[in-house]
Amino acid sequence: VNIPVPKNEPCFNFAVGSKEASLLRKACQKMRNAAPFEIPLIINGKEYRTGQLQDQLICSDHQSPIARFHKVTTPLIQKAIEGSLKAKEDWMNLPYSDRSAIFLKAADLMSTKYKYELLASTMLGQGKNVWQAEIDVIGEACDFLRFNTYFGQSIYSRQPQINPNHIWNHVEYRPLEGYVVAITPFNFSAIGINLPTAPAIMGNTTIWKPASSAVYSNYLMYKILQEAGLPDGVIQFIPGSGRTMGTQLLDHPDFAGCHFTGSTPVFNKIWLHSAKNMMNLYKNYPRIVGETGGKNFHIYHPTCDVDSGINGMIRAAFEYQGQKCSALSRAYIPRSIWPEFKKKLLDKVSQIKVGQSDDFSVFMTAVIDKSAYKSIKKYIDDAKEDPDCELIFGGKCDSSKGWFIEPTIFVSKDPLNKMMKEEIFGPVLTLHVYEDNEFDDILKIADKTSEYALTGSIYAQDRDIIVKASKQLRYTAGNFYINCKSTGSVVGQQPFGGARASGNNQKAGSVDNLHNWVSPRSTKESF
Ligand code: NAD
Ligand code: ALA
Repeated sequence: VNIPVPKNEPCFNFAVGSKEASLLRKACQKMRNAAPFEIPLIINGKEYRTGQLQDQLICSDHQSPIARFHKVTTPLIQKAIEGSLKAKEDWMNLPYSDRSAIFLKAADLMSTKYKYELLASTMLGQGKNVWQAEIDVIGEACDFLRFNTYFGQSIYSRQPQINPNHIWNHVEYRPLEGYVVAITPFNFSAIGINLPTAPAIMGNTTIWKPASSAVYSNYLMYKILQEAGLPDGVIQFIPGSGRTMGTQLLDHPDFAGCHFTGSTPVFNKIWLHSAKNMMNLYKNYPRIVGETGGKNFHIYHPTCDVDSGINGMIRAAFEYQGQKCSALSRAYIPRSIWPEFKKKLLDKVSQIKVGQSDDFSVFMTAVIDKSAYKSIKKYIDDAKEDPDCELIFGGKCDSSKGWFIEPTIFVSKDPLNKMMKEEIFGPVLTLHVYEDNEFDDILKIADKTSEYALTGSIYAQDRDIIVKASKQLRYTAGNFYINCKSTGSVVGQQPFGGARASGNNQKAGSVDNLHNWVSPRSTKESF
């Protein structure tokens, strides 16, 4: 196979009056008029309707469901597992080039024929504004499919370099023995498609459990994979409650691995449950790959460029309502620049427009659902009562029409306050102002404050400072940025993932991730 290096999918800007903006407006309107869409399960290529229905709501307009999906039942989970094992026989024997063609075609369909429908489903279904939808369900989703097929081929060519006389050594990169489970989060449609397809590219069959608040866009992507030629049973699509089905998917001797992205507590449950099963159930030690929570930081040095630092801060903290795993939620600012920084920050944040996700002029919309709204509001309410914390912007929440939370900024006197430590996963940013001569201490504090280690940035113009921060923060972030914001990694450019409580850092969209989904067999032949 010779798949050339792909290009990153270009992104439109949807300028007012552009043809793209007008097409997308029409797609959103059409989708709103036709909603709610009924979503079946798809097992072995067949649709199943269990009658156990759950709504996926438009989060900025929560009286309106976008979709109504059928939830999987215990017998259907069993069917999905059996079908997955059966489909594997043919799938793993298909040449890599034939498997790749399906995913490459799916990416093309996503970026052309289905572009507007996918964008509208992610805007209305997951509360993304137009640009956030574009970089996710088109940009990153197509990139995952194209780059994974490109990276995957290199694995097969990694062969032993030494063959003594009359000996031939070679390695066969087999898919894992059994089936793989893909459990995906609500916040990126791109992660939705990456988790089931990455193992499938390497010859595995997968069972995809999408997040309930992302079912609609995930289902459309699944249909596109089918249209691109995905054989029946290679990926099973089974929405439902993670809590009730999670363990059943893991309770089978042929469970071979789990490709998970979501919160740390859920990943811990999966890990513990599979660890217990290792004692007496599984044939193989399963590959448990998880990308989990974060408490991402920006550190500003007195030499930083204040304007660019503030731009990065606003975008990283408040784009997609702070619900990116990479979103900024704690920052450290030196006392000497704080007056100027604060004035410019408040001026900029007060210009943020919040509204419906299909209003093309908004920067922010609502948070994903009622439970996220309640949990974020509680952090805000508690911080308002906390003598350590001063609210300097926002803080209002309104759930009458949608789950709206203003962009909110606190300043904490204590750098170890819980607002600086815990993942809030919403539009809430906490700042700590440090004395300029305490920069070295602030690096140590930033490293020790949180259990997470996903993304982080240093803003400084002084090269020695950048080098010092980079060394001191070696384990504080899996994705480290210098003079740019902590969000927005691009597949093929910045492999993404964190360590500590942020996951086992297997780097989504990279050859490292794909290695998890093969189990090599070494063969020595003597002539
Ligand atoms: P979540 O953990 O609530 O849900 C993730 C998935 O797990 C969903 O499909 C859910 O239904 C399922 N699930 C829930 N309980 C389960 C159980 N007991 N067993 C099996 N599956 C179960 O996360 P979310 O709210 O969808 O996403 C937000 C979280 O994801 C945040 O913590 C965020 O930081 C993290 N995230 C991390 C990355 C990363 O790359 N590190 C990327 C995106 C999101
Ligand atoms: N690629 C996404 C980001 O870095 C996860 O924000």
